[in-house]
Amino acid sequence: MCGIVGYIGEKQAAPLLLEGLEKLEYRGYDSAGIAVEDNSGNIEIMRAKGRLSCLAEKTRCGKALEGCCGIGHTRWATHGEPSECNAHPHFNDGQTIAAVHNGIIENYTELKKKLLKRGYSFYSETDTEVATKLVDYYYEKHGDPVKAIANFTLRVKGSYALAVLFKDYPKQIFAVRKDSPMIIGVTKKEALLASDVPAILKYTKNVYFVENSEIICLEAGKAVFYNLDKEELEKTPVKINWNAESAEKGGYEHFMLKEMHEQPKVVKDTVSYYTDGEKINLNRSGLTGRTIKKIKNITIVACGSAYHAGVVAQYVIEKLARIPVRVELASEFRYREPVADKNCLVIAISQSGETADTLAAVREAKKLGMKTLAIVNVVGSSLARVADGVMYTYAGPEIAVATTKAYSAQLIAEYLLALKFAKVRGTVSAEKYSALLSELNALSGKIESILNNKAEIQRFAAEAANKKTMFFIGRGVDYAACIEGSLKLKEISYIHSEAYAAGELKHGTISLIEDGTLVLGVLMQQELLEKTLSNLVETKSRGAYVAALTYEGMNKAKEIADVQLVVPQTYDVFAASLAVIPLQLFAYYLSVLKGNDVDKPRNLAKSVTVE
Ligand code: AGP
Repeated sequence: MCGIVGYIGEKQAAPLLLEGLEKLEYRGYDSAGIAVEDNSGNIEIMRAKGRLSCLAEKTRCGKALEGCCGIGHTRWATHGEPSECNAHPHFNDGQTIAAVHNGIIENYTELKKKLLKRGYSFYSETDTEVATKLVDYYYEKHGDPVKAIANFTLRVKGSYALAVLFKDYPKQIFAVRKDSPMIIGVTKKEALLASDVPAILKYTKNVYFVENSEIICLEAGKAVFYNLDKEELEKTPVKINWNAESAEKGGYEHFMLKEMHEQPKVVKDTVSYYTDGEKINLNRSGLTGRTIKKIKNITIVACGSAYHAGVVAQYVIEKLARIPVRVELASEFRYREPVADKNCLVIAISQSGETADTLAAVREAKKLGMKTLAIVNVVGSSLARVADGVMYTYAGPEIAVATTKAYSAQLIAEYLLALKFAKVRGTVSAEKYSALLSELNALSGKIESILNNKAEIQRFAAEAANKKTMFFIGRGVDYAACIEGSLKLKEISYIHSEAYAAGELKHGTISLIEDGTLVLGVLMQQELLEKTLSNLVETKSRGAYVAALTYEGMNKAKEIADVQLVVPQTYDVFAASLAVIPLQLFAYYLSVLKGNDVDKPRNLAKSVTVE
């Protein structure tokens, strides 16, 4: 959701900005632009609607803009349609200040009116042009970039990551952020700024995470951080353990395919990090035996796939640890005036750690005095810093918009939590605990074996390619896997689908089943098998084309299903980890067959940093 980059150093800025923006493409965008300070100190801007390739063509791969200091932006339209005119960077009236912005300025109409009265004119429909001119207004007043930006932050409502070039301050980039991510990297002779780590990994692994309302002044080889009173701040960089190659396709056709194939490793790494033989150690996340015993109930908050992972956790934690769990969409939790409960642990799940609603939900929970824990993939992300405790998932950078490996790692974190809670609270026997833990170690190999036998799923995808709609049904953890499978399909293949708890189908939705409607049943919960099978039969007798996703050797499904897909056996509580793999592959192959942009599906952004 909008990407920002900034570069100041000895090299030509424009090609590096384009390269950095390419690394942020996954965030989603519909136009792009760069501003470079040329050798005579003027700021030049070039923008283009559409893909980065359009901007690259327009700028002759950056050669059209000469200079070693610049800012770049990929825009995901919020205010005003995707167009060259609305694309960032934006200029002040005198073309002496240029800015890029990620986020939403909520009071931009009011600010625009104020600026119009002061004689400013506007050429675009964007809140960013308003932001740029507001900075200009305060710069005219105070004659100092840091003071101008400080005043800007006091006047503006909403979220922003803002990077600004001032003609009067050559070879410097000024920036600030509130609730939108921004990171800084400094090398010996350069300084870089970006919305996310992959854009600067090639230059440095030591990253400064900018806090809300911190103002930064970048110069070649130097970053100075200020508070709103222009007092200098001491900051320490965080070492990122990702390497630049982990953010490359590595020979795969798509990032999504590569990331699906990384799942065995990701699962293994996440299990290994938190276990030591028979022990699960969550101390680093702030979860000691004493804290765990105090928890009376759990609320999980998250969005999208992370929410779906939360639905799995609800089943697994309740089953193993007997703690009541409620899962909520973060966007609902934050506004529903939740009741304060000091014995409630609020778990926020997020890949990026920057999702606006999830962050707001955690802030709300903290305000109400609840203990918060973040299950998050990006080290040092906003969520990781806001929550009381953090349980990192070890998925590495995830580039494809449709999450796969991060979701899988989230499931592992949840299983570890459930098992640890169960052990501390004495709700599982020692034998069961050991058996589950050893199965947790075996999951990686089982996922690998599914990935090694994907021809069957590819064939099934080809058969389903002309379907207009599909149903996924299951019960318990299988239902949780269905909602994720259905989302994957919608996101990247653009085929409509519904995920239903199998028992709920005949309460209305079964009316949609007609001749040839594809219904895929996930059948891995042994105790509920017969029931879900009956539900599948009900759809078949109304003309459905039935597929069953089962454990190997589940012969009963063969009698009913037109197609059977199988995965290795596991404990039912861990079934989602295996069920989701064929569902991800199914969505992937359908997307490829339809010629869609698999990694960057239309209208979507990887990291949703606005409401
Ligand atoms: C998943 O494929 C989606 N792209 C989306 O639902 C995502 O899971 C959601 O936006 C939450 O993101 P987060 O994990 O970064 O918070």
